[in-house]
Amino acid sequence: MPFNNKSCIKGTYFPPGDKSISHRILILAGQAIGKSEIYNLLQGEDVMNTLKAMRLLGVQIKKKKDKYLVFGIPPGSLFEPKNVIDFGNSGTGIRLISGLISSNNISVKLVGDASLSKRPMKRVTEHLTKIGAKIELKKNLFPPIKLKGTGNSVPLSFNITIPSAQIKSAIMLSALNTNGKVKIKEFKTTRDHTENMLHSMGYNIKVREGSLHRFIEMKNDKELKSIKYNVPGDPSSAAFFISAACLKPGSKLIVKNVLFNKTRIGFIKTLKDMGGNINIINKRKIHNELVADIKIDQKNKLSSTILKSKDIPLQIDEIPILSIVASFANGLTIFKGLKELTVKESNRLELIHQNLKRIGVKSVIKKYDLHIYGNRYLKDGAAVIKHNYDHRILMSFFIANMICKKNNIIRDKSCVKTSYPTFFKHISQFSN
Ligand code: S3P
Repeated sequence: MPFNNKSCIKGTYFPPGDKSISHRILILAGQAIGKSEIYNLLQGEDVMNTLKAMRLLGVQIKKKKDKYLVFGIPPGSLFEPKNVIDFGNSGTGIRLISGLISSNNISVKLVGDASLSKRPMKRVTEHLTKIGAKIELKKNLFPPIKLKGTGNSVPLSFNITIPSAQIKSAIMLSALNTNGKVKIKEFKTTRDHTENMLHSMGYNIKVREGSLHRFIEMKNDKELKSIKYNVPGDPSSAAFFISAACLKPGSKLIVKNVLFNKTRIGFIKTLKDMGGNINIINKRKIHNELVADIKIDQKNKLSSTILKSKDIPLQIDEIPILSIVASFANGLTIFKGLKELTVKESNRLELIHQNLKRIGVKSVIKKYDLHIYGNRYLKDGAAVIKHNYDHRILMSFFIANMICKKNNIIRDKSCVKTSYPTFFKHISQFSN
């Protein structure tokens, strides 16, 4: 089915399992006592690389029809793999598992693809060396990570100054095999799935939130219990369809079973502020995570908005698709403080800016702020999109076909498999 400026989004849609939660449940179930069952695990390549890594570290994981069975091994008993562990494109995988390994007495080399090999790792490893792990990075910054963990890690207090759930979660995973109290201070805008899952699995963890920061205390004096876990739908994947529906008056979409954690749904508020007609129904709590259904019944065109730096972490992965929305919304939209966007799977700030220009939208980067001059006219399109194999850039500029006179040219669409292998199937199911 053609997908172009005449397309609307319609139907009842179940987004694929959440990527962040899928990584975490594989890792934590791998350290729990007994057998865990996982349903709706994301089948994306990033998560499958974490699954393979856990297997190489000694955890037995079996697929049985629609579920995965994970037979946990106790913290501190990871096996030393014979070969390197390859995390492909996944920053979450390599960073979280570095943390897990750092408090085990094993030596491992962690590698990734060309994009991951350019991403900063020191932000994680500088914390892990303090507990006693020995770590070498390429140019003292990038993967491969050569890691010699310690069986005798030191319990410390950490102060994290970059708003990053990956840094926090790496430290939290190192704490699983650290005797004594581990304390963490971080920005409360980062995703808190590791905390919620540890609570659900009976771990000794205390969390307190101040106005700006979150304070976490962990003690490894209680076992991690096995769990039966149904991974909720990924709001970051659903964001492509929710945004597309808001962009196009006449769209009517129901999104079922979406993770509705407040650290993940900043984009819903942004879309509502721009005029998106979005209603949240059936809110419920499952394993300490809020889950909901979302209804979009779009009647009007959108207007511009301004996002402050402090709100960016709440929608960090959705800035690419929100940039497409802003292009078709009347007025000047400003996204402030996008520094973290420059160190994602690609330099997303630069690629958004370049591709907007190619399709006929004016944007300006001022330091780390992105200014997008939106209007409700169709853009020229017919541009060759430069995605550097970044899944979210590719999917965002595919959705941009809805606001272009001529479809854009996107070569090699295979990288959607990192986070959303069924993206194009869903496009043909829910667009008409
Ligand atoms: C993630 C955290 C975020 C996010 C990434 C997934 C996670 O990265 O951008 O897609 O699962 O912890 P940072 O922690 O680097 O902000």
